[in-house]
Amino acid sequence: MKNLFLFLTSIIFCFNICFAEDTNKGEKSMGEKTLVVYYSWGGNTKVVAKKINEIVKGTIFEIELKVPYTTDYKEVVEQAKKEIQNGIRPELKENFSGDLSKYDTIFIGSPNWWGTVAPVIMTFIEKNNLEGKTIIPFITHGSGGRQNTISDLEKALPKSTFKEALILNGSLVNKSDDEIKTWLNKLGY
Ligand SMILES: Cc1cc2nc3c(=O)[nH]c(=O)nc-3n(C[C@H](O)[C@H](O)[C@H](O)COP(=O)(O)O)c2cc1C
Repeated sequence: MKNLFLFLTSIIFCFNICFAEDTNKGEKSMGEKTLVVYYSWGGNTKVVAKKINEIVKGTIFEIELKVPYTTDYKEVVEQAKKEIQNGIRPELKENFSGDLSKYDTIFIGSPNWWGTVAPVIMTFIEKNNLEGKTIIPFITHGSGGRQNTISDLEKALPKSTFKEALILNGSLVNKSDDEIKTWLNKLGY
């Protein structure tokens, strides 16, 4: 009797496992279809990108420049001003090497630089076809808020669908877990 009971419970156990695997076959999880792309000069946007990816469990890609900016704040502020005024697109150290067609949702993170996104974000956008993708921006700033960051992204990506952006003060990124969770929750993560 005991053996029969063990036999039956093992069959039920195996059936459950097989069935669970079957229902997942061919269907990718949200995380597998999500890419988190960001640029960060001073580290604030990087902190947020990592926190986002801990929850969405996607692929994370840090945009880096072929010729990195100086580490001097005053100098980078001046250089960024010139680049933005002249529409300069700094070269990428390397482009995302994965298959972009696998991703339907792309989080794009940038610091607010002179009221817009860092120019290298535009380089990335222009080098990759993000048509038809869902774009979820996240911005860190020094106190200016979103300014033109999101509208400039929207202008650059007219054939993508934008979802609610996260705008965080850069000095508060380490205290932003709840805000990030609530925002991602509203987005279905
Ligand atoms: C070149 C440069 C320009 C900036 N311009 C602005 C700005 O226009 N408005 C603002 O609120 N913060 C501005 N900031 C502050 C950054 O947006 C803020 O510190 C941000 O969190 C930095 O992100 P990061 O550490 O990922 O580089 C600027 C910072 C730099 C370096």
